[in-house]
Amino acid sequence: MRALAKGAAPLGERRGVASPPGPPRHFLDIDRYETAELRRILDLGFAYKNGRRDRPLEGKTLAMIFEKPSTRTRVSFEVAMRQLGGDAIILNTADSQLGRGETVADTARVLSRYVDAIMIRTNHAEKLDDLARHATVPVINGLTDSSHPCQIMADVMTLQEKKGSLGDTVVAWSGDGNNVAVSWIHAAVRFGFALRLACPEALQPPPGIIEWARREGGRVSLTGEPDEAVAGADCVVTDTWVSMGIEANVSRHNLLAPYRVDERLMAKAKPDAIFMHCLPAKRGEEVTAAVIDGPQSVVWDEAENRLHVQKGILAWCLG
Ligand code: CP
Ligand code: NVA
Repeated sequence: MRALAKGAAPLGERRGVASPPGPPRHFLDIDRYETAELRRILDLGFAYKNGRRDRPLEGKTLAMIFEKPSTRTRVSFEVAMRQLGGDAIILNTADSQLGRGETVADTARVLSRYVDAIMIRTNHAEKLDDLARHATVPVINGLTDSSHPCQIMADVMTLQEKKGSLGDTVVAWSGDGNNVAVSWIHAAVRFGFALRLACPEALQPPPGIIEWARREGGRVSLTGEPDEAVAGADCVVTDTWVSMGIEANVSRHNLLAPYRVDERLMAKAKPDAIFMHCLPAKRGEEVTAAVIDGPQSVVWDEAENRLHVQKGILAWCLG
């Protein structure tokens, strides 16, 4: 809440007011930040996980706008705010004026007068950018159709925890080249691990992103063959075949069936490889129960790390 009203303070006090605040520190997408900044967020996340107990967000409020459903993102952000001393408010589009056509820009201007940060989960990446452009408080990307950076910060934290050094790690993605895959690509480039994606030709990540990754010096490859991507990998990851807002149909199912992560595919990875999934999962579709509920799966630690890393993100944005 930056409106600590320049106009409201008595003149004498106002003379003491320093220069106007700088631009808010948004968390929009992993590719937009330097590695050092992303590392600071991870370090904060690890510190909170390891017992740091300060409450830097005392008196601060986060508004969370949801255009799509959520369990993990909603609860982990709300708990993170409370544990850091602050509070959170949920706005579902359907029961706010956004659902009746009030613009994102106007919503951003108004919410900035009440709260200290805004998280949004939206159908369209343009709305996230619009919100960030017009808000005077930090805006956090809680998932768009194009990316899911908070999730992948938690995934990188999990990878580091389980595998130690990220630079020597090979991650294999098998499935839809969706929003989660995009944030994995961003993370591979910024954190320096190798990423091999296997996707059906019709469901590859957006055009240009693999070229971007290579231009940035990233070790990112794309194939149509899951066995090739997974061979010798340290981590195998997948996601739902039907992201929110996408129509489930037989042709999509048939395209993705060869990319299912089952015990046969997992056996192509290193013997100590881990399996990750952002959840929610559909057993029998993108992953079999034997894999997601098996000994190589780290999905519950991964889900827990949402809470820790989001404390890092909140503290970084508002610190
Ligand atoms: N992984 C994830 O973002 O889960 P939710 O949709 O439950 O928030
Ligand atoms: N790709 C999925 C991720 C859910 C957390 C979706 O967008 O629905």
